[in-house]
Amino acid sequence: MKTLTVDLPGREYDILIGRGLLDAAGERVRAACPKAGRLFVVTDDNVAPLYLERVEGSLRAAGFETAAAVLPAGEETKCGPMLLTLWERMMDFGLTRADGVAALGGGVVGDLAGFAAATILRGVDFIQIPTTLLAQVDSSVGGKVAIDLDHGKNLAGAFWQPRLVLMDPDALDTLPLPVFMAGMAEVLKYGCIRDGEFFDFLAARPSREALMGEIGHILYTCCDIKRRVVMEDERDTGLRMILNFGHTVGHAFEKAGNYTKWSHGEAVAAGMCAAARLGAALGITPADVPGKIKAAVAALGLPTYISCDWETIVEAIGLDKKSAGSRISLILLEKMGHAVPVKMEKEAVLRTLETVYKG
Ligand code: GLY
Repeated sequence: MKTLTVDLPGREYDILIGRGLLDAAGERVRAACPKAGRLFVVTDDNVAPLYLERVEGSLRAAGFETAAAVLPAGEETKCGPMLLTLWERMMDFGLTRADGVAALGGGVVGDLAGFAAATILRGVDFIQIPTTLLAQVDSSVGGKVAIDLDHGKNLAGAFWQPRLVLMDPDALDTLPLPVFMAGMAEVLKYGCIRDGEFFDFLAARPSREALMGEIGHILYTCCDIKRRVVMEDERDTGLRMILNFGHTVGHAFEKAGNYTKWSHGEAVAAGMCAAARLGAALGITPADVPGKIKAAVAALGLPTYISCDWETIVEAIGLDKKSAGSRISLILLEKMGHAVPVKMEKEAVLRTLETVYKG
């Protein structure tokens, strides 16, 4: 087992990575929350049949009284009415401020359960047990929790750091291939923004089998990068923005597909390709980088280009007339393995993006 510590003043926590941790959840959570009597587990109807009994059994063996909410899988679950339902169920269960909430599942479950934990009784302990690759390398670390509103994704939320993140690579074995590969888009992102050697390491292993053979190293490297970024900029006012490489255009792709046609990971994969082309056209990203990213994305079976109407892209990037100011901040690659926020005149970005995207 490997351990990483997210060292935030007064809210330090460990990320544990290791096979078999699902069955050892009880003792690990007990060590992180020595005084808690009850744990309310939030999961979904994909994950519950696979892992809920094992995890609850382990928690009970460690002396926790547990209750579980099994929610419908999918983004629609991350909504206000579901949050209200969870709050009521937690109160029915008798949750007190000494107790805790655990998220067992992917990003939707983690974000919703985390926001419920941040708000019920003005905040209780929160445990992340991520079971998708995307949740393990990204959403379970760093404390961003939220629900979606009709106006857009993640618009109501909080920064609420977990007490413990417990990730078992064995959970990835049951993921459908497209869900695994969608998580790989975020994995590649870490190579692009912070570690060129890691990018090459991933590019040389373009199959699930080869990647799973190195999964401990992959999870550790991604979480180590994320942890360092979060420790420097927990509240997302500076460095943390580099984690959004490929996400701005990616959000336009997700929106254009009505959030159903393309998964977040697929949209980010095509978004990273677009951001690399834009960076090269602006003279910031070296000319060979877009080709390298495109080849790595394609080798994983992820989209390198998504067709999207021009207005949606312009709006998502904040280049539209409604957005304030004449300058915008873009996350671009100065070289492979080094992302930087770059402030530029909107007009210049718009002209370049038009040639890059419309070709
Ligand atoms: N997923 C981006 C962040 O945690 O900041």
